[in-house]
Amino acid sequence: MNAIPKTIAVVGSGYVGLITAVAFAKLGHRVVCIDTNEEKVAKLRRGVVPIYEPGVRELLRDGLAKKKLFFTTQYEDAFAVHQPDFVFLCVGTPPRADGSADLKYVERAVVSIAKNLRKAAIVITKSTVPVGTGRHLQELFRKHTHKPVSIVSNPEYLREGKALYDFMNPDKIVIGSDDAAAARKVKRLYAIFKKPVLTSTLETSELAKYAQNAFLATEISFANTLAEIAEKCNADIRTIVETIKLDKRVGPNAYLGAGPGYGGSCFPKDVKALINFSKRAGVRAPSLLQAVERVNNGRINGLVTKAEFLLGSLKGKRIGFWGLAFNAGTDDVRFSPAVSLARALLKKGAVITAYDPLAMPEAKRDLGSLITYADDPYKAAKGMDMVVLATHWPQFKRIEFGHVKRLMRMPNVLDARNFLPAEKLQKLGFNYVGVGFPFIKGMHPSWLKIIAKDVKKLKRFSEHELRELREGLAALGKEVTLAPVFAEETAE
Ligand SMILES: NC(=O)c1ccc[n+]([C@@H]2O[C@H](COP(=O)([O-])OP(=O)(O)OC[C@H]3O[C@@H](n4cnc5c(N)ncnc54)[C@H](O)[C@@H]3O)[C@@H](O)[C@H]2O)c1
Repeated sequence: MNAIPKTIAVVGSGYVGLITAVAFAKLGHRVVCIDTNEEKVAKLRRGVVPIYEPGVRELLRDGLAKKKLFFTTQYEDAFAVHQPDFVFLCVGTPPRADGSADLKYVERAVVSIAKNLRKAAIVITKSTVPVGTGRHLQELFRKHTHKPVSIVSNPEYLREGKALYDFMNPDKIVIGSDDAAAARKVKRLYAIFKKPVLTSTLETSELAKYAQNAFLATEISFANTLAEIAEKCNADIRTIVETIKLDKRVGPNAYLGAGPGYGGSCFPKDVKALINFSKRAGVRAPSLLQAVERVNNGRINGLVTKAEFLLGSLKGKRIGFWGLAFNAGTDDVRFSPAVSLARALLKKGAVITAYDPLAMPEAKRDLGSLITYADDPYKAAKGMDMVVLATHWPQFKRIEFGHVKRLMRMPNVLDARNFLPAEKLQKLGFNYVGVGFPFIKGMHPSWLKIIAKDVKKLKRFSEHELRELREGLAALGKEVTLAPVFAEETAE
């Protein structure tokens, strides 16, 4: 498919590395992948994809069959046999305790590459790395090899669950390097996509990746900030978000999702790393980014409070979870808000049974026997005091909710992502609580009576919430004794 097929080495066969490898093999290049994880490499050699990503298995098997794709744990084999022109660095950059990006995998990979290079090479950093890393790696190569190495920063912007599609249909390609000839060669690898290519310094390219993720995380925290305000004043974040998205200057794909906050393997660590890096770069207070993080960190507690509103003490309460993955369409549970919420509820004494269409094997590694795992969403709801919609898998919209209501002990639904059909659930008689709109209206009368007697909860109610409660109680048509605080507050 490409005019001049190249030989490419891809270091690290995770989400980014594997997609890069199968995609370049599909485009006609010869690709050798090096990963230190023996189990992963053994699976990939057999055509088994260790992660869930649509379309990857077919390309992997095709690449293996056509001898365009090779997997090894040995740098020596990869470089001696294949002698790559391009080396893509795709190893992980997890957060350290202080929030900075841990570069040990990148540095180890660089030393291994340097020691095994047989000829000049262009080394392309796809891993997300702090500003200055490219220059640091250049030094590391100088120390460990005499072969000429050009460093190019070319961060990856794919989304998990749509990774192959995103790689093959990028919005943009960013190429940063001091070496214009190397940048041109890398640009040619992507020419087939006919998409905007931005060439820059190493530093601009490195910072642009953090800027992109921090911007998307900011949109999410912005929506969540507005959601908190909306809940207290009879406004609805769902309409507010739609209003903003319809603005010409924003657009329909804006990441304005009010919910459990951002998670996954990138946003939390990249926002943290950017804050850490900013401080080290002498930016006094990246207060906007700190606020983004603070809002996000508060989301799980906010949802726990909602669960307590519905159930009172969570001790011994049975809660069903729909979803564990950090996002729909993936089996990745790294920094998943669903898992964080489950942990927070467990801490309060809740008993959890969960169902996720894909992520249960991964979640089991994380949560183990702390929760029970169900085979389907109905089993996860059976006998429960509350169901939490934690990941917005499309199939959860198609659940037979009338059946769910009959299965549950108490018909409470906490929709952490405003994803389920709210009106339908309320009509069916569920106590439905979402994010970013008042939830007292539409509550079951028995719940209103309980809440009216709960001094602690009433203290946290806004004027609007108290008014809704009063109206709800009046509609019941019978005398209900209000807790003293309610009388005090209304008397003020
Ligand atoms: N996952 C995403 O959605 C995504 C998107 C864009 C950018 N990124 C960035 O890309 C990088 C990789 O992310 P990922 O999610 O693919 O990580 P991952 O954890 O899925 O994969 C990393 C792989 O590198 C291998 N590895 C570690 N040290 C190695 C070494 N010395 N030599 C060879 N292999 C080694 C590991 O065994 C693992 O298979 C990170 O910097 C991440 O921030 C990730």
